[in-house]
Amino acid sequence: MHTYRASQDLSVLADHLEVPGLGFLPVNAFVVHAAQPVVVDTGLGLPDRDFIAALAEVIDPADVAWIWLTHPDRDHTGGLFALLDAAPRARVVTTFAGAGIMSAEHPLPMNRIYLLNPGQSLDVGDRRLTGFRPPLFDNPATVGILDTSTGTCLSSDCFGAPLPSAELATAESVAAADPGQLRAAQLLWATVDSPWVHAVDPAKYAASFAPLRDFGPSAILSTHLPPLTTGSATVFDTLLDAPKASPFTGPDQAALEAMLREFQPA
Ligand SMILES: [Fe+2]
Ligand SMILES: [Fe+2]
Repeated sequence: MHTYRASQDLSVLADHLEVPGLGFLPVNAFVVHAAQPVVVDTGLGLPDRDFIAALAEVIDPADVAWIWLTHPDRDHTGGLFALLDAAPRARVVTTFAGAGIMSAEHPLPMNRIYLLNPGQSLDVGDRRLTGFRPPLFDNPATVGILDTSTGTCLSSDCFGAPLPSAELATAESVAAADPGQLRAAQLLWATVDSPWVHAVDPAKYAASFAPLRDFGPSAILSTHLPPLTTGSATVFDTLLDAPKASPFTGPDQAALEAMLREFQPA
């Protein structure tokens, strides 16, 4: 995992996952170095990953006050229960649905939960973080974060893109990616992660971008994209085209067997 400061008060814990046929998907977690420090998502749970060790490169895990789970998918919860042990005062910010989903894997003590819905804010000492529903999402518990003190938007799965290499997936700026490739990859991810986008009412879908456009983010930090600090209008326009992008169909068993035959010795 590659850790770095993206700005004065925000660290990135940058990981990636290779997805056969699609590319290298960034998998980021973040630390907002607020008066009450906030960890946003907790990475992959693969056996060779150590989320707490990576986190310790940017903050003493015992100092973490809040663990904001943008949604309880497995690429966001890898370090959650280890962090609850390492940060004994930390509470998990999630929704009623999110707490329910997590409690199916491991009991979440009620006194460690803070329920927050889109539109509600969390006081973290020196600022308020406001929850919002990103235009694209794959889980009913999804809540992104708007930090009005810095103009930063933490968008969860929304704006993600599988990129051509592991280096690009963990780059410190999305500007390292080719703009044409980025647009195609964001549209592909939109159709993989939110297949319902092909069934939306176009006007209502376009209107769902209004809160984010009005916020005018100075930075967009997606779990699945390197940090974006310029060109937010361009990526809004990209995602507005998602309803008419080609629907994604994954490889089936015949395609898998064809792939495996290629690996057999001659
Ligand atoms: Fe997800
Ligand atoms: Fe995700």
